[in-house]
Amino acid sequence: MKEPTLKPSRPFFASGPCAKRPGWSVDALSGAFLGRSHRSSLGKARLHEVIEKSRAVLGIPSDYRVGIVPASDTGAVEMVLWSVLGARGVDMLAWESFGAGWVTDVVKQLKLTDVRQLEAEYGALPDLSQVDPARDVVFTWNGTTSGVRVPNGDWIRADREGLSICDATSAAFAMDLPWDKLDVATWSWQKVLGGEAAHGMLVLSPRAVARLESYAPPRPLPKIFRMVKAGKLNEDIFKGSTINTPSMLCVEDALDGLRWAESIGGLRELLARSRRNLAVLSDWVERTPWVEFLAKDPAIRSSTSICLSLVEPWFLALPKDARMAHVKKLTGLLEKKDVAYDINSYVDAPPGLRIWGGGTIEASDLEALTPWLDWAYSETRQA
Ligand SMILES: Cc1ncc(COP(=O)(O)O)c(C=O)c1O
Repeated sequence: MKEPTLKPSRPFFASGPCAKRPGWSVDALSGAFLGRSHRSSLGKARLHEVIEKSRAVLGIPSDYRVGIVPASDTGAVEMVLWSVLGARGVDMLAWESFGAGWVTDVVKQLKLTDVRQLEAEYGALPDLSQVDPARDVVFTWNGTTSGVRVPNGDWIRADREGLSICDATSAAFAMDLPWDKLDVATWSWQKVLGGEAAHGMLVLSPRAVARLESYAPPRPLPKIFRMVKAGKLNEDIFKGSTINTPSMLCVEDALDGLRWAESIGGLRELLARSRRNLAVLSDWVERTPWVEFLAKDPAIRSSTSICLSLVEPWFLALPKDARMAHVKKLTGLLEKKDVAYDINSYVDAPPGLRIWGGGTIEASDLEALTPWLDWAYSETRQA
């Protein structure tokens, strides 16, 4: 096969940290609020702006709290698991490694006993109809390492008694999130809007706040997990008074991403861009015999972390180590050509490709990428 000539204009297809928005340069940070206290009125105003812009773009109801918390999405999820679980039984959903990590936390670290684990293999979803509305439920909206997402929130009952706790880090700003079905949602800046890592976003419904104020977990909570003061939610966290010191450089970058989102038409256009990106790869997969989606069912297929399997018999006949080595060779070749960076599947996932399709990616770059994928496959296969 002849080596293609046209390269993607930006070879950044990693699933986190994700590509910056089109046109981004460090100049976007020139107005950052640096060398000043984040607790000054101007500093707090910047943090509050992140909160309110996030609320506006995502359509989060006005009676939901939105806060900036330490330690990225992981920090946001952990502080909630530690603060609210144990009040009732919990259903833990997992179908890839991040969901599995939350199961480990709940079973091995929190050592909760009334836990049901509803799990599925890479490429599939557990049976969502098994979720019990009398119990809490913890799940990822989009499983970043398998490219499998929940299709919608219909399986979460409006009259649930438990809390629905959603790790939405690779879904927020790319997929429709039904806020009436979510009591807790989290994400990190480094995902769909291409911000910098460091801080997490935490959304709490009024029911989640009621749980925090009525349930004192029987365990010590480190300072960076504590959201309740004298039995009341610490509202300051949700107005921009962060628990500890944030990076105002990262804050500026998060604002840049949000301003860009607003400038292109908000959530509707972000979702449309991600759908178009998935469509480009779907068209290519359909006409390409050596590759298939890891998620067989289109209804649960991610439009952000798009996971693909190599399916020709010679490849499938190899032991796992050799399949991993082969994929590494293929992706290494693309990296060397500056065509695609970081598109190897996640270490725990079946060996294959994972290509980011969130809104900061241009569909034209994915179109330019596909002939290169065919070329790299053909080159490495021959070798
Ligand atoms: C579903 C999911 N949860 C949690 C995380 C961890 O996010 P962070 O490293 O921002 O804490 C990731 C990162 O890729 C993720 O994809």
